[in-house]
Amino acid sequence: MKIAVLGTGGGGRAHAARLAELGHDVYVGTRDPEATLARTEPDMMGNVPYKEWLTDHPGITLLPFGEAASAADNLVINGIDGHNALATLTAISDQLAGKVLIDYAVPYLYNPDIEHPWPTPWGVMPKLDPCDTDSLGEQIQRALPDVKVVKSFVTQEQETVVNPKAIGGGDHTMFVAGQDAGAKKAVTDLLTSYGWTDVLDVGDIVCARGMEMYAGMHSAIGLALGGHFGVKVVRR
Ligand SMILES: NC(=O)c1ccc[n+]([C@@H]2O[C@H](COP(=O)([O-])OP(=O)(O)OC[C@H]3O[C@@H](n4cnc5c(N)ncnc54)[C@H](OP(=O)(O)O)[C@@H]3O)[C@@H](O)[C@H]2O)c1
Repeated sequence: MKIAVLGTGGGGRAHAARLAELGHDVYVGTRDPEATLARTEPDMMGNVPYKEWLTDHPGITLLPFGEAASAADNLVINGIDGHNALATLTAISDQLAGKVLIDYAVPYLYNPDIEHPWPTPWGVMPKLDPCDTDSLGEQIQRALPDVKVVKSFVTQEQETVVNPKAIGGGDHTMFVAGQDAGAKKAVTDLLTSYGWTDVLDVGDIVCARGMEMYAGMHSAIGLALGGHFGVKVVRR
């Protein structure tokens, strides 16, 4: 399949590499390919410059966001920084129309001016915006009614999303939420190809609220454990 990954951050790279390994044609989206390839410094998360990463992952095509989305047969993964995702995706709505958009972004506002900060080893915990009564997943779905938005992947690090068996032999749970049953089936099939065996459909795109708001709990557990982990839903 031809699959687009919008985003050159650590998460986008994890999906791009795994999809290529699985035999897909991968189109990675960025704002300006020339500028992205010219970078010589690690990004804010410490990922090596994209060009350096690309030398170890030949065959992955880097394109402007809209062209990458156009190149996809059906599946497009959104790995654009949460604060900028809505505007960026809205600008390429024509190229996304009719496709499945898997959104794993968290709408974080960094360095927030807040009354009760949560200090972490990497600085103050960012603030979710929107939160509680709305979510980024819903905002994207409202702005792009011709796109089938599925919120997923967001509840853990993308390194383990693409390789679930690295945690507890793969015995943990991934979630999907969205309006379109066919789109959720397509995402579940992709997750199965990654190695997932427990994918829970939590309902409509409104459930993106809970998935995004889980980010704080995910950070708390990650800080307590000091490493990657998965979450298992134990049914009655
Ligand atoms: N990494 C994970 O494991 C993980 C897990 C769960 C959720 N998330 C969430 O998923 C989202 C993506 O995370 P990530 O780590 O893969 O990447 P990221 O570093 O958060 O974002 C990288 C992408 O955002 C784009 N971007 C940054 N500023 C922009 C702007 N002003 N306008 C348009 N695009 C802009 C960059 O474009 P260029 O390519 O042009 O630089 C790049 O493609 C974030 O919201 C993050 O919180 C990440």
